[in-house]
Amino acid sequence: MTTHAPRPAPGSEQHSRETELVDRVTASFDHCPDPRLRELLSSLVRHLHACIREVRFTEEEWNRAIDFLTRCGHLTDDRRQEFILLSDVLGASMQTVTVNNEANGDATEATVFGPFFVENSPAVPLGGDISAGAPGEPCWVEGTVTDTTGTPLAGARIEVWEADDTGHYDVQYDDHRTAARGHLLSDAQGRFRFWAVTPTPYPIPHDGPVGELLEAVGRSPMRASHLHFKVTHEGCRTLVTHIFVRGDELLDSDAVFGVRESLVKGFEQQPAGTPTPDGRTVEGPWSRACFDIVLAPVPA
Ligand code: BEZ
Ligand code: FE
Repeated sequence: MTTHAPRPAPGSEQHSRETELVDRVTASFDHCPDPRLRELLSSLVRHLHACIREVRFTEEEWNRAIDFLTRCGHLTDDRRQEFILLSDVLGASMQTVTVNNEANGDATEATVFGPFFVENSPAVPLGGDISAGAPGEPCWVEGTVTDTTGTPLAGARIEVWEADDTGHYDVQYDDHRTAARGHLLSDAQGRFRFWAVTPTPYPIPHDGPVGELLEAVGRSPMRASHLHFKVTHEGCRTLVTHIFVRGDELLDSDAVFGVRESLVKGFEQQPAGTPTPDGRTVEGPWSRACFDIVLAPVPA
């Protein structure tokens, strides 16, 4: 590891030149007619200048940073979004989720959305199978949807999606088939149940500049095993979240900082031949998990 000698603090003339520049740039937004835009830009400039001054960026380092962002831009199109990946691996996506889903009683915690959600997923009956042939160990998932007073929510729309056991979402398949995604509606008691595949770990796209960054800092591109949920019900805050697999060794190093302890669930392994909850015949082992979802009210 390279270590740098502590830098001397800038002298007073230097200090005043630097702070005068920060003040001049933030003042340039004073006449912005949109107060929110003024607030965002002033804060961004203050923090950006503070960073440049704190680490004493060299001009060569700054040019490398610009080159990095340029390469992110060149790779980004309507199928690949390198800037979102950058936001994800810097924890900025997760921090934005956290700020916008304030703690509310025992409401289920939110986590990152990820790039693999697809609108208009197939409707799956309660007890149905979302996997649609996606390879993986069968997994029975059941739970309830309630509000923060404990009242069951009937008719909640529960979207679920996941990678198969090769680490691919259906949108990454060559033949464009739909698999390992679907939506269900909770019953009159707020209950839901479905078959899926047991979640397994997979890497985020790491063949671009963000992958180089992870490599340079010795970080893995792997996401902890998870199953995505998006749950909506009138009068409630939409919940975008995942459940994670207790015991997964990646829980502490998820590439996008999406893990919350409250979202880690037991996926209990069932040996081959164990009777299933719905009488279905499953060849080989399977797993089962329970996820009780609590929706916060829509913010006032
Ligand atoms: C995902 O979980 O699907 C995901 C989240 C962030 C970046 C890449 C993938
Ligand atoms: Fe995912």
